Amino acid sequence: MINPNYVACSLAVALILNLSSVSSFAADPANGQSLSRQCSVCHGKNGIANDPEVPSLAAQSSFYIEKSLKDYRSGVRQDRRMTLMAQNLTDEEIKDLAAWYSSFTVEVTLPE
Ligand code: HEC
Repeated sequence: MINPNYVACSLAVALILNLSSVSSFAADPANGQSLSRQCSVCHGKNGIANDPEVPSLAAQSSFYIEKSLKDYRSGVRQDRRMTLMAQNLTDEEIKDLAAWYSSFTVEVTLPE
């Protein structure tokens, strides 16, 4: 028979391992902010791009930003500028950038 103390102990260890892996993957928007300095030349400091070829990132969903950056990195999506920008980003940096831009608030005024 399995010793119940052993079971409780393994559960506790599993829980601790699980919690620590969750916290190491939690997005850090402050790091995203410092990483975003290299993006603001094109995407704007406030996440609103002035160049008509460049999409705005302010308030974009973190899911979409993360997916786009991973697609540029893997080559699924290609653009000469973004492929270059995304190729050296780690998964964690991508999460941090996504957390930063998705935390912006945008006010929309509909046309009359
Ligand atoms: C040299 C200019 C330039 C820089 C620097 C740049 N981008 Fe881009 N970015 C672009 C252009 C142009 C596109 C649109 C490309 C396309 O048509 O797929 C784009 C697209 C994107 C998209 C997809 C948005 C959408 O609506 O589909 C994301 C996300 C993005 N960039 C994030 C970033 C991040 C994060 C950084 C900094 C690490 C960065 N970019 C740096 C020019 C740039």
